[in-house]
Amino acid sequence: MTNKELAHKPVLIKEIIKLTEPKDNETYFDATFGNGGYSKEFLEFSNCNIIAIDRDPHAYQIAKEFKKKYGKRFDFFHSEFSKINEIIEKTQEKKIDGFVFDIGVSSMQLDYPKRGFSFMKEGPLDMRMGQEGTTAYDIVNSKTHEELADIIYYYGDERNSRRIAREIETYRKSKKIETTLELAEIIKKCFSNKYYKKHPATKTFQAIRIYINNEIEELHSGLNYALQYLKKNGNLCVVTFHSIEDSLVKNFLKIASQNNKINKVIKPSEEELKHNSRSRSAKLRFFEKGNLEFRYIPIEDLGFKQS
Ligand SMILES: C[S@@+](CC[C@H](N)C(=O)[O-])C[C@H]1O[C@@H](n2cnc3c(N)ncnc32)[C@H](O)[C@@H]1O
Repeated sequence: MTNKELAHKPVLIKEIIKLTEPKDNETYFDATFGNGGYSKEFLEFSNCNIIAIDRDPHAYQIAKEFKKKYGKRFDFFHSEFSKINEIIEKTQEKKIDGFVFDIGVSSMQLDYPKRGFSFMKEGPLDMRMGQEGTTAYDIVNSKTHEELADIIYYYGDERNSRRIAREIETYRKSKKIETTLELAEIIKKCFSNKYYKKHPATKTFQAIRIYINNEIEELHSGLNYALQYLKKNGNLCVVTFHSIEDSLVKNFLKIASQNNKINKVIKPSEEELKHNSRSRSAKLRFFEKGNLEFRYIPIEDLGFKQS
């Protein structure tokens, strides 16, 4: 593994291991393999097994190293949350002891300008985790300003969404918007205050990324599969970084746990905050299935609409 790949610091992993206590021969499902930070901690903590997926084809390179090191205890599939059922049906395990989801982009994605996720580094407007389908370029250059404003407001919680959408539309009358920094500059112009805590493009980039990767529907479907395939007394850990995702997870677990107190929320310790700035907005939600029966939870019950 390269130093860059190892540079990703897994968020809230100590807390996850403490809560789940993976035991020898148990099987855990890492739904967001990324740089393998979570999988590694599980595999080193006990002789448990890991089934891991990631929709990003680059994760496969890291997974190959894991396969060499951990052999039969580790399996990786290039896949996504909405296909978790197909993966589990393919493996010997038909029930899982625990699921972990670490939602969002990995540092591997964010740090490579060519992937187009960062508003701080020049790159093409891509932002596709799975490297297939519609790009950010397609969205910003083809949607009407009303459509853009809705995306930016709904997925980014950005109050300035209408202004940003109008500015994008005006700019592209003379030229297509091609790069991340070009888009970031257009957005910056919509904010009068030059002294900001967060970069003004943060929420708009987040919104476009969530939209093109279908992240809300994916998360909804992943949580339902987790609930379906968890063993009795199995557990589920979900780490989120934005209120939109956290509210979906919170509402989901509230319904799934039938309002019991087995739905805990945990934030990073002072120590972790000091050493890992990415953990700043992280929230971990933990759920134990207990004896609860699986019941599919529709997205509308979580306060979200079907796209
Ligand atoms: C924050 S990173 C995970 C980092 C990982 N926990 C670690 O410690 O290295 C999130 C990863 O989830 C993947 N991902 C996001 N949405 C996904 C989905 N719907 N299906 C599969 N993988 C997804 C991304 O490609 C990314 O690699």
